[in-house]
Amino acid sequence: MRKYDYRAVIFDLDGVLTDTAHYHYLAWKKLAESVGASFDEAFNEQLKGVDRMGSLNLILAASGKDFSDADKLALADQKNLHYQSLIAQLSPADLLPGAAESLQQIRAAGLKTALASVSKNARAVIERLGIAGEFDVVVDAAKIKNSKPDPEIFLTAAAGLGLTADECFGIEDSIAGIRAIKSANMFALGIGSPVVLTGADVVIAGLHQFSLQDYLR
Ligand code: G6P
Ligand code: MG
Repeated sequence: MRKYDYRAVIFDLDGVLTDTAHYHYLAWKKLAESVGASFDEAFNEQLKGVDRMGSLNLILAASGKDFSDADKLALADQKNLHYQSLIAQLSPADLLPGAAESLQQIRAAGLKTALASVSKNARAVIERLGIAGEFDVVVDAAKIKNSKPDPEIFLTAAAGLGLTADECFGIEDSIAGIRAIKSANMFALGIGSPVVLTGADVVIAGLHQFSLQDYLR
């Protein structure tokens, strides 16, 4: 494994720092059922890290029916309202095990931290989790044109930190996110299963297994 003098770590949010990936799953499942599209955990893996309209288009394509642009906007709003009701009560207790400790470890070692989430709800989520102040740079949907798997979000985060891509590494739970990190020419740490995240350089089960020293030269 490549060890390096990294100067920053770029975190995905949903499914890495908190289990909101599960809430996205529940909200998309309900939406998919309402339009008669089949939906399961395996299909959901393709949606993780993909922006709202991109995810909706994948679900609607699976339904085999046609939808107007107005229908699509209404369905996307419906999903988002459901998702927002699920995250309304988020608090610091919803940080995944090891999340707060990983951020502290990285900052204590003098490295920088950034957030790279294509979610339009990212700002609200980090505020409710009490970690909004833990990032030197936050890149969300408002700051990019192309969703993961495009590398834009990770490259924008690195540029915001004033660093080159190889000085940063990325942490992701999604297939699209790992592809984005690798396309940005960064080291990719996967969170989840190595069977799913085949493109990652290393995969750990969760941030409770994260130790910065494993990656530093
Ligand atoms: C993240 C999640 C996706 C979600 C996307 C857009 O990337 O992994 O599951 O669809 O954000 O989220 P939003 O909150 O903008 O609908
Ligand atoms: Mg994620």
